[in-house]
Amino acid sequence: MADDKVLIFDTTLRDGEQSPGVALNVEEKLEIARALERMRVDFIEAGFPASSPGDFESVTAIAREVRGSVIAGLARAVQNDVDSCWEAVKHAAQPRIHVFLSSSDIQIMHQLEKGREEVLEMARTQVARAAKYCSDVEFSPMDATRSEPAYVYQMLTECIDAGATTVNIPDTVGYAIPEEFAQFIRNIQENVPNIHKARISVHCHNDLGLATANSLAAVQVGVRQVETCVNGIGERAGNASLEEVVMAIKTRPDFFHLGTNIDTTQIHRTSRLVSQLTGMSVQPNKAVVGANSFRHQSGIHQHGVTKMRQTFEIMDPKDIGHPRGTVLVLNKNSGRHGLKARLDELGYEVTNQELDHLFGAFKELADKKGEIDDRDLDALVSGERRSSRTSTSWTCCRSPAATTSSPRRRSASSALTARWRRRPRRAPVPWTRHTRR
Ligand code: KIV
Ligand code: ZN
Repeated sequence: MADDKVLIFDTTLRDGEQSPGVALNVEEKLEIARALERMRVDFIEAGFPASSPGDFESVTAIAREVRGSVIAGLARAVQNDVDSCWEAVKHAAQPRIHVFLSSSDIQIMHQLEKGREEVLEMARTQVARAAKYCSDVEFSPMDATRSEPAYVYQMLTECIDAGATTVNIPDTVGYAIPEEFAQFIRNIQENVPNIHKARISVHCHNDLGLATANSLAAVQVGVRQVETCVNGIGERAGNASLEEVVMAIKTRPDFFHLGTNIDTTQIHRTSRLVSQLTGMSVQPNKAVVGANSFRHQSGIHQHGVTKMRQTFEIMDPKDIGHPRGTVLVLNKNSGRHGLKARLDELGYEVTNQELDHLFGAFKELADKKGEIDDRDLDALVSGERRSSRTSTSWTCCRSPAATTSSPRRRSASSALTARWRRRPRRAPVPWTRHTRR
């Protein structure tokens, strides 16, 4: 593997589906898996086959159909889980069995009600069982960040000896702080003698809003597999979000000097698909895929982006496949530049004097209404035209040549104005937009 690539292990279909209230059927999971493959995700964790017959069926169907990504299934370190995981993923072009078991005392004692030795034995035995089926085995010591480090080192050492080819370090309860997490990874690199035989991965939860930061801190110290979910969904506050991790690496090559295999132009549509099928809406201010990610509201920002998009945007909306791109949100904070730019986009050509009038009316309306949309602008322009009937500079779709730039045009425009003047006051207004040439 090239060391300058961070591999993306997407668990939207497993940890993501563990989001409270989410349940996907086989067809929905297949649809998301196809989108993930299209996005060129390296690994798709398709589900937890032993957890239900439906999940077994989904993982099997994905393994049969999706050929471009490695297909992983999750298994507890118990024989039945490992066997059933293999039965489901064995159809994949590139299968992976992902075995996990708690390593923290709090979970070992209070959840598993076992001792450390017994747990170690379970991990070793089931990783070895998985390795007999499949050459690609991942092992995760669950709750690693709240475990005694020496115990984690021992567990990882024994699991790598038993055949684990990837060791994943989960921050299961989102407890870690970036600097501390990076140091934990360094300690693993230094204290697990056979670590060079396995790839290190991280799986960070977002309970403190640090999942992406923790994942990137791990990348900085050499981790080359990151586990993510689209839109950051997952248990409780969710997992590190795919789009944040991938776009951070893409946006800051000067800092990371790394890349991913992801086709980032698929991010926006995949985010929408996942949101639609899971029923989990994306908060408007969500990084990268939130509805406001490329919308600018303040007059100062609008002035900047109309001159040069990069003044207030660090990502190109095209890079994530955003269909609309940069948007100026018009409201009471907007300035003349923002209003003028939107009027231009809508096809209205206005003089400075007309803009002055419109801007006053626009501010008044914005104070009352909040956001001003395109239909409001149409109405403002119509109102301005009605109130300044002598104006000759509005262009009209019925006479695109009518501008004030030449005597002939001026007279055509005056004729139109005269005609309108003769209209009864309530006559429908013939003005509409036309595309600016
Ligand atoms: O959060 C976690 O620890 C997990 C494991 C199964 C990897 O999801
Ligand atoms: Zn998890």
